This record gives sequence, structure tokens and C-alpha cells, in this order.
Amino acid sequence: MNTSHLGRCRLVVGFAALLSFAGVVLADDAPIVIKFSHVVAEDTPKGQGALLFKKLAEERLAGKVTVEIYPNSSLYGDADELQALRDDNVQILAPSLAKFGEYNQQLQIFDLPFLFDDLDAVNRFQQRAKGRQLLTGMQKHNITGLAYWHNGMKQLSATKALNNPADAKGLAFRIQPSPVIESQFTALGATPVKLPFAATLQALQDGKVQGTENTWSNLYSQKYAPVQPYMTETNHGVLDYMLVTNTKFWYAIPHATRTELEGIIEEVTFAVNNAAEQQNIAARQQLSQGKTHLISLTEQERSAWRAAMQPVWKQYESVIGSDIIHAAEQVNRKNAGKQ
Ligand code: LMR
Repeated sequence: MNTSHLGRCRLVVGFAALLSFAGVVLADDAPIVIKFSHVVAEDTPKGQGALLFKKLAEERLAGKVTVEIYPNSSLYGDADELQALRDDNVQILAPSLAKFGEYNQQLQIFDLPFLFDDLDAVNRFQQRAKGRQLLTGMQKHNITGLAYWHNGMKQLSATKALNNPADAKGLAFRIQPSPVIESQFTALGATPVKLPFAATLQALQDGKVQGTENTWSNLYSQKYAPVQPYMTETNHGVLDYMLVTNTKFWYAIPHATRTELEGIIEEVTFAVNNAAEQQNIAARQQLSQGKTHLISLTEQERSAWRAAMQPVWKQYESVIGSDIIHAAEQVNRKNAGKQ
């Protein structure tokens, strides 16, 4: 074997080794797959936020991250999504804040009726210390909060006109699985029925429940109108989300990639939270152009709803913590000093 042949051999072996090395590196470098599951339609604040997150992550972290979105409870629904997250079968969710009771009862602060006057007040609370602390309150369950995403203020819908609290008496309302919301409807003399979001339309069609509470965007995109001819603009509570991930999964992501993802989440959060109010206004507009009777309350009527629902606060003060309730009241400037 002459030396030049030997040289060529070495080169070939070396190249093959390099290729197989590259193969190993590629395998290790296989894109991180982030499954993002949610329960709402895509034309809602959360649905749009999920799509924007996918777009930015796949643009800026091309080859490193892929995001799979599963809307409309198509992968997991209310009943099993948080367990699936903890088991790392899905990596990002954005459940409503009313759905974390099993893991952090303090989050029920967001369900207290008439605590926040509007979404700006909710936003202020979420950005301040107490609100931010709640993002890390589920670490021991392997759940990390990444951000708050807005949907909006809740309205009531029913088979009959709800002008005064007494009108709700005797009706069954579909609710999210929150003890506070349960007590809120019990206080009205109504029957709260906990149902997954995905089962609600059917329950309304079957007459199992006669009413719901939700944001304009959910009321509209879930197509409740044919079975909920009356909707009352109460703005009595908030329906917002916590974007959550599996803690172990998140902190195993290489630092540079994770930092980029966190930057993207910040950007998407800003976009979602800026657009949410407009999306709800647009959905309200659509409903008002259809057959739905939209009921606006007088100041006096709204006060009556407030008086009927607000006793629930006292009931949950020890569970949620009076310091947190107080902090929320403080940032709700219009309401500050009322209690
Ligand atoms: C509901 O169950 O009504 C909401 O939490 C659905 C959602 O995610 O907006």
C-alpha cells in the first residue's frame, strides 16, 4: 500500500467517523417537540396566542424546536390535561385560572365575583408581586407558570332573560371546576353543574343546564347562541389563563434555547393581552347582530348582582388568604376603599 493510498484510506475512515459522529450529534440535536394543548377554538385569544407561539418558536429556533398545537380538546380536555402535563405527555397548556384548584387554592382569587372592575385591574394585579408569586405556587407539583394570558370578563347566558339575581333562581348553570364559582351560583339560588368545556354545548342542547357564564369570545365561538337566546353583560368576574409547563421538561431545555423561548413567550403574552379585549368586543358585536338578546344592566341592577354574589368572598378568605385579596383590592383602584 503506498503512502498516498494510506492517506486516502485514513481520509475515508476519518470522514466516515465524522459522518457517524455528525449522526450522533444530529440525533442528540433532534428538535425539541413542544405539544401545546388547549380546549378552545382557534379564533379566540388563547387559540391565536398558541398559533403565534408556534410561528415565532419555529421561525427563531428552526431545527431546534417544533410546536404541535392541539385545539378544541382534541388531545386532552379539562379532565385530564393537567395530569398529562405533569406526566410530560404534553408540554404547554393554558388552562383557565379556575381550573388549578387541586394544585393551588390561592388561584381562586381570580374567581371571586366583582373583585376586579375590568381587565386593566386584573392586569395590574397579575404584574405585581402577589400576582407574580402565584406563577410559582405549583412547583412542587411539577407545574411552572410562565405567564398570564387574558381572555376577558365573564358574562351570563341563559334560556331566559337575566336582569336581576332573582331571575337566576332555580336554573342550572354549567360551571368550571372552581369551588368559588360553585358558591357564587349557590348564592343566587341556582344549581351549579361542573362540566368540561367541551361538554357544555351538548348539555345546553339537552337541557341538562339552562345557563352558563363565560367571555364573549367563548360564548360566540362555542356557538351557544341558538340555545342561549339571552346574554347579560354583567362583567361579574374574570376568565384568564396561566400558561404552564412541566417544570422538569422546561429546565432540561438547553439554556440558550430556553432563554429564546422565554423571550418569545413574553412577546406572545404581550400580543395576546393586547388583542384579547378587542376579540371579545368583536365577538359581542357578532352576537348582537344575530338573534341573541343582549341585556345591559343599569347601575342599580349591577349593584344587585354584586350584593347577591359578593358574600362568597368571606367564605373563601381563609382559603385564598386575606393578604392576597387585599392586594387585589388595592390595585383595583376604582374599587379601592369600598370594602
Ligand atoms: C371554560 O371552561 O369555560 C374556559 O375555561 C374555557 C377556556 O379555556 O377559555
